[in-house]
Amino acid sequence: MTRKLIILTDPGQDQAAAILMILGQRQAFDVLGLVATAGNINLDHTIANCLKLMELAGRPDIPVFAGCPHPIIRPLVMAEHVHGPTGLDGPNLPPPKIAAQEKHGVDFIIDTVRAHPGEITICSLSPVTNLAMALRKAPDLAGKIHEVVAMLGAYFEVGNITPTAEFNCYVDPEAADIVLKAGIRTTLLPLDVTHKMLSTPERLGAMRALGNRCSVATAEMLEFSEAFDLRKYGWDGAPLHGPCVPAFMLAPEMFSGRQINVSVELCGTLTSGMTVADWWQITDRPKNVFYVTDGDPVAYYDLLLKSLENLP
Ligand code: RIB
Repeated sequence: MTRKLIILTDPGQDQAAAILMILGQRQAFDVLGLVATAGNINLDHTIANCLKLMELAGRPDIPVFAGCPHPIIRPLVMAEHVHGPTGLDGPNLPPPKIAAQEKHGVDFIIDTVRAHPGEITICSLSPVTNLAMALRKAPDLAGKIHEVVAMLGAYFEVGNITPTAEFNCYVDPEAADIVLKAGIRTTLLPLDVTHKMLSTPERLGAMRALGNRCSVATAEMLEFSEAFDLRKYGWDGAPLHGPCVPAFMLAPEMFSGRQINVSVELCGTLTSGMTVADWWQITDRPKNVFYVTDGDPVAYYDLLLKSLENLP
């Protein structure tokens, strides 16, 4: 069955790979729109990066909407040190000819979910600021969203932007708290699983060898963004976060996890933005999340390559 998707994203090379993977699976996904999020880089750049990716993939028909320029409460923390000054450094993608929509991204989420009650999957690759704002502006929305599948959080695997917090949660922990308490069917793909999906030189070489403009650009993007993680972790490849979200929707059998409670630390001095996973059900907090901790990297990269192969 084709899933109707709203994609929340702050591309971000790994998220670009996820978006291209989705666009390479046209039978599986009907992308209704992208909501650009302030995160890896500021909103102006994430809007431009979304537009560039739609043009790269030959999909100028997919609308891009601007979300909020800042997290709900906190000042914006960005990650240019990983993604470069444009947020999508690597390939030299031309300035986009297409433009973002007039409608605000929060209103796009509200209007689209209300128009398709029970049918929309929120594919979240970024901080969840705009989903949280939509839930606050339209409380009826929680009961109308089919599910949320999000790259967010870390527990057994330590944090990446702080020793305890994963970036997408850390940027807007209040937003993550709102979403995780909304009662929506939610799956998280945290660092616990994305750190097992490493873009080794062989895997990047296989992307490049596909030879189409999208696969070559994906290899060039990841070859740029991997530098920081290779220095930091010393692994034979950088973790590839974003595509875990579409991969889970396409082939959940390649992953494993547990239905547990995940809560967000909002007040900690050292632990702000930490996702606290009650893996052994020590508390009586509601089991609000399917928390994914493992996956099959060979199947993952095979699926990514098969998806990129379908693109121009
Ligand atoms: O923690 C990984 C996440 O943070 C990814 O979405 C990456 O793009 C950054 O935004």
